Amino acid sequence: MPVPATRVRPFDDAGIAEAAALILAGQPVAVPTETVYGLAADATNGEAVARIYAAKGRPSFNPLIVHVPDLAAAERIGIFDTGARALAAEHWPGPLTLVVPLREPSGVASLVTAGLPTIALRVPAHPAMQALLQATGRPLAAPSANVSGRISPTRAEHVLASLDGRIPLILDAGATDRGIESTIIGASGGQLRLLRPGPIEVPDALQVEGGIEAPGMMTSHYAPSKPLRLNVTTAENNEWLIGFGPVEGTSTLSVTGDLVEAAAKLFAALHEADASSAPRIAVAPVPRVGLGAAINDRLQRAAA
Ligand code: TXA
Ligand code: MG
Repeated sequence: MPVPATRVRPFDDAGIAEAAALILAGQPVAVPTETVYGLAADATNGEAVARIYAAKGRPSFNPLIVHVPDLAAAERIGIFDTGARALAAEHWPGPLTLVVPLREPSGVASLVTAGLPTIALRVPAHPAMQALLQATGRPLAAPSANVSGRISPTRAEHVLASLDGRIPLILDAGATDRGIESTIIGASGGQLRLLRPGPIEVPDALQVEGGIEAPGMMTSHYAPSKPLRLNVTTAENNEWLIGFGPVEGTSTLSVTGDLVEAAAKLFAALHEADASSAPRIAVAPVPRVGLGAAINDRLQRAAA
């Protein structure tokens, strides 16, 4: 989606008001947290989340961190056991992300979790992100605000250098004080595991037991349980066809061939096909341009 120019404006009341209006209109906005600048969008709006991926040019759909104002808001989206609640009480607001089971219905778009039954939640301390959460009243999905494969931005200038022309607005509040991404801890089934080291020091026991997994590699990706065939224009007997553009399916990702709409619907469509009585799934061709690259990446993993 072409965005002509990216404006940078200071974090103040007027800046927050404009950023909130853009977010509620489904646009991504760059905003500082105390770790790094994030590219935030309404987590309840699948197309807004798809625009994060489009702006970052990410070649795959990794699950995103959802930012919320406080623990009560987090508990409306995720399920917290005693261990998770204790960590939240000790470190929130702050540079800690907890991966917990998703509460259903959570209201969060399935593209945010990339179809997984868990969700990464964080209560940030930075006043800009907190103000944006208050002004929008929405949970905000936000990865680091950089083009895929580049280092995370700790100043508005870094975001501009990376995403100029790809997003409408950057809120500038100077350099972030932590400078590295949040510590990520998985907390479910009474167990804690360090998933990504970061600014919060965690007990040794937690590190030894779980071992550290590389970011991005940590997730067992969602895949349907049924065989899946790609680039199909005509379904065979008993196949559930997921259509796209001119190929009309049992369900269709986007009748008009809109990749933002298709990305937003992808995981829900896979879950629906998986839950149906059809024994096999087929998917229409999706062009490998823009977001189509990430859609094809995910479909290929699902088919493998
Ligand atoms: O400091 C930070 O954490 C920044 C600020 C903006 O909050 N965000 C950030 O997001 O670093 P990102 O998208 O660059 O990294 C999120 C990490 C990814 O490695 C992803 O795999 C992991 O969190 N993640 C998200 N949801 C997950 C889940 N359900 N299970 C396992 N890992 C998950
Ligand atoms: Mg990142």
